[in-house]
Amino acid sequence: MAQGDQHMGDYEVRRFRAALPGEDGYDQTRAWIRAVGAGFYEKRRSDEYVAKSAGSLVADRREITGAYQKGPVPAGTLGPDVPVATFATFRKTLNVGYGVLVPAHLITAVTVRPSHRRRGLLRRLMSEDLTRAKNDGVAVAALTASEASIYRRFGFGVATAERRITVTTGARFRLAVPTDGRVESADPAVLLELAPRIFARVHRATPGSIDRQERYRLAAGGQWDRDGGEDAALRAALHFGPDGEPDGYVTYAFRGWEHEPYTIDVSDLVAATPEAYLALWDFLGSLDLIRRVSWAAAPVDDPLAWALEDPRVIHAEAGQDMLWLRILDVPAAIAARRYGADGELVLDVVDGLGLAGGRFRVRVEGGIAAVSNADGAPADLTVDVAELGSMYVGGVRATTLGEAGRIAQADPGAALAAERMFAVERPAHCSTHF
Ligand SMILES: CC(C)(COP(=O)(O)OP(=O)(O)OC[C@H]1O[C@@H](n2cnc3c(N)ncnc32)[C@H](O)[C@@H]1OP(=O)(O)O)[C@@H](O)C(=O)NCCC(=O)NCCS
Repeated sequence: MAQGDQHMGDYEVRRFRAALPGEDGYDQTRAWIRAVGAGFYEKRRSDEYVAKSAGSLVADRREITGAYQKGPVPAGTLGPDVPVATFATFRKTLNVGYGVLVPAHLITAVTVRPSHRRRGLLRRLMSEDLTRAKNDGVAVAALTASEASIYRRFGFGVATAERRITVTTGARFRLAVPTDGRVESADPAVLLELAPRIFARVHRATPGSIDRQERYRLAAGGQWDRDGGEDAALRAALHFGPDGEPDGYVTYAFRGWEHEPYTIDVSDLVAATPEAYLALWDFLGSLDLIRRVSWAAAPVDDPLAWALEDPRVIHAEAGQDMLWLRILDVPAAIAARRYGADGELVLDVVDGLGLAGGRFRVRVEGGIAAVSNADGAPADLTVDVAELGSMYVGGVRATTLGEAGRIAQADPGAALAAERMFAVERPAHCSTHF
């Protein structure tokens, strides 16, 4: 019996679509949303917040999963209608490089109530869900993690990273390159319409990008602060390209006069062109009275550092895992991408969950891969499916994974060949948390 199996008879797993207030099933949706909040140690949410959350679950067409206690529960504890474990999925596209968007199965809202942890609930929900997604024909699953130690055992690998930066502004902040276009302050409300349009361009241009859920649009538009309410502190600026069209925005808030040095916190910085990105930074760097700009979700490979006269104005924390990818179907995932170099490799893919493993010959010609079964052939590279996920959008070098002991190569050139093949046209970056 696998660890935790002895408890599985205690629970019933229910899958359902979110309902809106007034609709059948709203009580179940409301209890599930509150359970997710409790799982992340949030304060108890108002009815208004819960109703708004339900609206965004419906807008994203999320499938909700809850595990419920069977049988009587002790008097005075949360009732059997409150799930002890939560899990949700939805589908969005993932940019896998060279402008190719593939459907991805996104996993979110993973919580298990403290008194029901370490009984195998997460393992059960995750294994069942990944199997269903694979059977549904989706080649890649994705998530963003609260802790980096949980998901590798399920075949997820870190595919992109991000880092918190604090930038000293004022006289020391000067770009060494000219910017183009024009930046203007705007009412965040205009972003309710503009943010998805601008993000769609960013998404098509950025390997590793995941399309955004409804909540981003509401947050950019000042309608979703920390508590789901109106965000009175939020400010916005738009960048207009040479054609006069908005192609970038930044939303930000002032931390307050009691915090010195006076600081701006960036909420979201979305730029469809490198020029828009630098121009928005130029705007942030020149705000009067402000001496510091802080951004928790900056790219690790950041052109800003190379564009500044004095790159030491950037104080960066170490990069942290952001997007995790899990390949569910190796031939489909590999054939969906375009490649940076031609070549041929036999990949032996190891998958502890038995979903996607096998030996595959990958032949790339003209940037397009043909994948065939290679049973019996010697492998050039042996990789866990998690490392294949890490390499998939070009976010890590195969040679680095080799040096980390995470992939085994038959000859010393195999990792380098894989690295060249899996290279993408720009640094991989995901700016969508889910
Ligand atoms: C993380 C969490 C969902 C795990 O749920 P769970 O039902 O206790 O997990 P399981 O009993 O199914 O354990 C599955 C495996 O993950 C491991 N694991 C679980 N939580 C872990 C953690 N926080 N760190 C490292 N490993 C963890 C278990 O040891 C087990 O390993 P094994 O199967 O290889 O022996 C739960 O602890 C939780 O709700 N935490 C708070 C919210 C959170 O962090 N959610 C994740 C959001 S991305």
